[in-house]
Amino acid sequence: MLTHLSVLLGAVSAVSSRSVPEKRLDNGVGRTPALGWNSWNQGGCNAATAAVVLNTAQAFIDLGLKELGYTYVNIDDCWSLKQRNSSGHLVADPAKFPQGIDGLARAVHAKGLKLGLYGDAGTLTCALYPGSYGSEQKDADTIAAWGVDYWKFDNCLTEQVYTNKGIKSPEYYPVMRDALLKTGKPILFSICQWGRDEVWTWGGKVGNSWRMSEDITNDWASVSSIAARAATMHEYAAPGEFNDLDMMELGNGVLTEAEERAHFGLWAIMKSPIIMGTDMTKLKESTLKVIKNKTQGILAINQDPLGKAATTFTPKDQAGPVSGKLYKYFAGPLSDGVVVGLVAADGVATLSVNFTDVPGLGEGSFEWTELYSGKTGTGTSVSQRLGAHDMAVFKVVTKK
Ligand code: GAL
Repeated sequence: MLTHLSVLLGAVSAVSSRSVPEKRLDNGVGRTPALGWNSWNQGGCNAATAAVVLNTAQAFIDLGLKELGYTYVNIDDCWSLKQRNSSGHLVADPAKFPQGIDGLARAVHAKGLKLGLYGDAGTLTCALYPGSYGSEQKDADTIAAWGVDYWKFDNCLTEQVYTNKGIKSPEYYPVMRDALLKTGKPILFSICQWGRDEVWTWGGKVGNSWRMSEDITNDWASVSSIAARAATMHEYAAPGEFNDLDMMELGNGVLTEAEERAHFGLWAIMKSPIIMGTDMTKLKESTLKVIKNKTQGILAINQDPLGKAATTFTPKDQAGPVSGKLYKYFAGPLSDGVVVGLVAADGVATLSVNFTDVPGLGEGSFEWTELYSGKTGTGTSVSQRLGAHDMAVFKVVTKK
């Protein structure tokens, strides 16, 4: 039914505009934000090896992350040889991937996990490995045959072939979408063009997720500014189509424990994929606690089938959000309640909200749970003292 509806919708939009991508991706995967890991934030090119992938996959199992839904183990840039083979196919670097990507996919699948890989819409990737321009179908067929489950598609070296000629990303990203669809394999399509061309307005027709910003860096300023920006795009999240706030920096030694809670909490409630970017075999206990979230409540909010993103709301008597700056009050609908996020964006604070000010709540008494502490209560408001950059995430129940 959904498929038919999507085809119909696709046909309608095809008539209405040429430059807007016509079809929906509708590949059945990525209905909730992807949970997993990617090599890039851990170690750039150096982490793109079979050994690191296999250690990560094993860590997902050993740490109990797999059973919480962490599924995708993704290789980023630098996995291939610098030259295609004589038939024009991409070749995995045998020094980094002795069993090939197909062998690695089999090993990852045997652990009950999924394998992701990285490509690029231009002539070369950002680290100057072969891009897919002109070989889109060949590459889609190759990764499908290898058993790849997730394809991140970057935007480097697109100038000569596209953008200098006035061809914009809404026109060239669908080439790979269509190639993936033609394989008939349910490969999650992760668009990475750094938030260009207002990707959030059309990304849902092309991919399962789309990066809405430039690359994250390992500091609070980057985390908070991406989150502030993402809050303005909340209406574009839906099952199978999500803003990607970029890969996590938890565990990378710079963010405080409080900042790790806020980073994870904000990404989760805004329905971003949560793709870890650190050495999973060396996680600190405090980081593990955040990403597992004792009660599983924050992960469950991220994975809520409703798929709607939280955004800011302004309590009575408070100043509203300032563009580019992280705001303190967030809320969003869930299939069985409302999530309320309080963020000590400006430093130590006691933050309080009356439920009458929260979209989706209102008059009356509600049951709530603060998901980092497990504290529960019933009432007409919540309040929490928070250290600098810390976050509290309340699940407020509206239905029994
Ligand atoms: C960037 C991308 C990063 C990473 C890097 C690899 O363009 O945004 O997430 O994939 O390329 O070179």
